[in-house]
Amino acid sequence: MLQAMKLKDKIVVIVGGSRGFGKALANLFIAEGSKVAIVSKNKENVESTGQEIGATPFVADVRDEQSLRDAAEQIHKQFGRIDIWVNSAGVFKTFPKEDLIDMDKAHELFDINFFGAVFGCRTAFPYLTESEGVMINILSSAALDATRAKNAKLYAASKWALRGWIEAYRGEKAESPVKILSVYPGGMKTHLHDEAIPEDFENFMDPVYVAEKVIDSLKLDNPEPDLIIKRPKV
Ligand SMILES: NC(=O)c1ccc[n+]([C@@H]2O[C@H](COP(=O)([O-])OP(=O)(O)OC[C@H]3O[C@@H](n4cnc5c(N)ncnc54)[C@H](OP(=O)(O)O)[C@@H]3O)[C@@H](O)[C@H]2O)c1
Repeated sequence: MLQAMKLKDKIVVIVGGSRGFGKALANLFIAEGSKVAIVSKNKENVESTGQEIGATPFVADVRDEQSLRDAAEQIHKQFGRIDIWVNSAGVFKTFPKEDLIDMDKAHELFDINFFGAVFGCRTAFPYLTESEGVMINILSSAALDATRAKNAKLYAASKWALRGWIEAYRGEKAESPVKILSVYPGGMKTHLHDEAIPEDFENFMDPVYVAEKVIDSLKLDNPEPDLIIKRPKV
């Protein structure tokens, strides 16, 4: 099992590591001495971020489980093992008119936020079993309380669905050596919100602040299985 305070030389995979929270977390792992592979859909984004921060880029679309498996296999071949796997890829979509749901858009949201993370878990599990490693799933505070998820009912629902899946999965895998962790951040200032900038976006958290909380928790002997990260009180 991962020892406290020892992130040095760990092999870390961050799916959704090209931007936003995933990129901030990748940077912090690198600062701790981990070797980081970042995986995302857009080749140009993931390659330029890889070069910028010193992570190794891999291209995969989380909607396509085989592409994730291919990336994991290449990473395992290149680095020899996988110690930590982070499912951070996600999209935010709003549906302002509740009686006019664009079903293609709704399916895309669930295919990425829900099934994409499920595929990530399934892909990572054998490698993490081998390394007795850690899986980290990035959910959202909207999966705990969706009352303020205005026009974002389906986004909140995709994260509630994932929360249910992860809880059941964790129960099923209780005897395995893999630690299955969930993180529930509040709003972060990232490009996730480009489609619809929230009114209080100014007050959203810096993704680096959230990433620091995740690293702090990982360094504990027993990392918090359900880490809730709220905006700091001002
Ligand atoms: N920002 C917030 O307020 C907030 C709050 C709570 C939770 N979260 C969650 O935090 C996670 C990260 O979000 P973020 O704020 O960092 O968003 P972001 O800046 O938009 O980054 C999203 C990341 O996901 C990747 N991605 C999207 N679709 C993908 C696909 N089909 N296959 C592979 N990679 C894909 C993107 O890569 P490409 O550029 O290659 O597409 C990018 O690396 C998400 O799960 C989000 O729901 C965010």
